[in-house]
Amino acid sequence: MFSFLAIFPILFALSASTPLADLLNSKSNAGYNIHAVLVAGSNGFDNYRHQADVCHAYHVLRNHGVPAENIIVMMYDDIANDPENPYPGKIFNAPNGSDVYAGVVKDYTGEEVTPENFLGVLKGDKALAAKGKKVLTSGPNDHVFIYFADHGAAGLVYFPSDTLSSHDLNEALVYMHDNKMYHKLVFYLEACESGSMFENILPDNLNIYATTAANSTEPSSPTYCEDPEIYPCLGDEYSVAWLEDSDSNDITKETLEQQFQYVVKRTPNSQPQQFGQKSLASLEVGQFLGEKASSKIDALENSEDSVNARDIPLVMLRRKLKRTNDAAKAAVHAKKLQTLISGRRFLESGIKKIISQLCSNGYCSDAEYVLSTRRPLVHHSTYSKVAKKFQSSCLNLGTHPHGMKFMYAFANLVESNNFNESTLNRFLEDLERACNNHIVDHGFKAIV
Ligand SMILES: *[C@@H]1O[C@H](CO)[C@@H](O)[C@H](O)[C@H]1NC(C)=O
Ligand SMILES: *[C@@H]1O[C@H](CO)[C@@H](O)[C@H](O)[C@H]1NC(C)=O
Ligand SMILES: *[C@@H]1O[C@H](CO)[C@@H](O)[C@H](O)[C@H]1NC(C)=O
Repeated sequence: MFSFLAIFPILFALSASTPLADLLNSKSNAGYNIHAVLVAGSNGFDNYRHQADVCHAYHVLRNHGVPAENIIVMMYDDIANDPENPYPGKIFNAPNGSDVYAGVVKDYTGEEVTPENFLGVLKGDKALAAKGKKVLTSGPNDHVFIYFADHGAAGLVYFPSDTLSSHDLNEALVYMHDNKMYHKLVFYLEACESGSMFENILPDNLNIYATTAANSTEPSSPTYCEDPEIYPCLGDEYSVAWLEDSDSNDITKETLEQQFQYVVKRTPNSQPQQFGQKSLASLEVGQFLGEKASSKIDALENSEDSVNARDIPLVMLRRKLKRTNDAAKAAVHAKKLQTLISGRRFLESGIKKIISQLCSNGYCSDAEYVLSTRRPLVHHSTYSKVAKKFQSSCLNLGTHPHGMKFMYAFANLVESNNFNESTLNRFLEDLERACNNHIVDHGFKAIV
């Protein structure tokens, strides 16, 4: 009552000189439209949280007034109706939260969730558009917001059957800049080792501001992992931090820097980072997530639990085993757990053998050292070629995502060898040979 009385004379005074329509329509006054791309790069019920984060992000944008036609969503869409989902047709991003799946318009689902389509969307690819698929149509005055949630590794993020390298992603961002597809661009990235997607590669003069859930060498952390009915984690620390902050704050006043500081506080298990043109952080969040005041959910407290993102498949199977009273089901879970553990063991020893063989080829002197250190990724383009070779000749990271965990070792080799074209080609051949000896034809259907 008090605030209404206080604000009434102000509204009245303003309306005398300024048409109210103009005040409400501040977006067109500002001369830009907001366009957004939201991507969950994983599939499978264990990875529930990434699609939950992305659905929630969709509602944040819609609640703040971004038109549905300006939002492009990529998500595998296998969670809501997974037979394991105790709430068929619904997805939650917080314990006792509201259903975030309802109302989400999905543009790319299932097999369409690929790095190629993501890059095509960013670049406004005409061939995709001709097939009736949505691509970015933003222009030189517009604000673009990109959010990606998934697994990651040194210089890589995961897609359901492939990976995307830091080199290819940043090349697309430069293309967007050169083709005047935005005035200002904000990128929020949730993934393990996500700092490595921008560190030493994203220029600071492209009007792009990026934040990541983790630095370049550490995992990011899931959260809300203790829901008694929905066994997987419902969200990720960094993601729910910015999402819930955007739900509960006046983002027309809060700056990107203020939101980042809040996110850092609510992300105790990793160190969120800022990249690119950091001066953009003084702009209001609403310039990218929508300028309409939203009346939404209160921010919830973070759960105390900390689960290593890479260990979720193990944690989930152990949890299922513990919860079931059915002996037959328990046996199935136990068998799966055993296979998972042997697959991971096999992979770990295989990677060690590959690195040892590469050391004996002259690329390093001590495999243990290569595996126990972290060099910052600088030669992104060379590394991208090595990662693609690994993926095509050693292990398809799309079906064996646990392999992502070891990619830093190859980043270390790239950084310590200073390859030129001919030495790189020789390295790629030696890598293939080592893989043929130690990893290929291993017989594991999936190493997760
Ligand atoms: C969720 O709701 C249930 C039952 O209504 C309650 O027991 C539980 O404490 C709630 N959980 C949280 C995290 O609020
Ligand atoms: C990244 O974070 C880890 C701890 O999570 C820390 O050990 C490491 O030093 C950090 N790296 C950088 C470059 O800050
Ligand atoms: C590449 O490096 C190797 C070894 O350092 C050197 O022998 C070779 O001449 C270089 N090749 C080119 C094309 O620079």
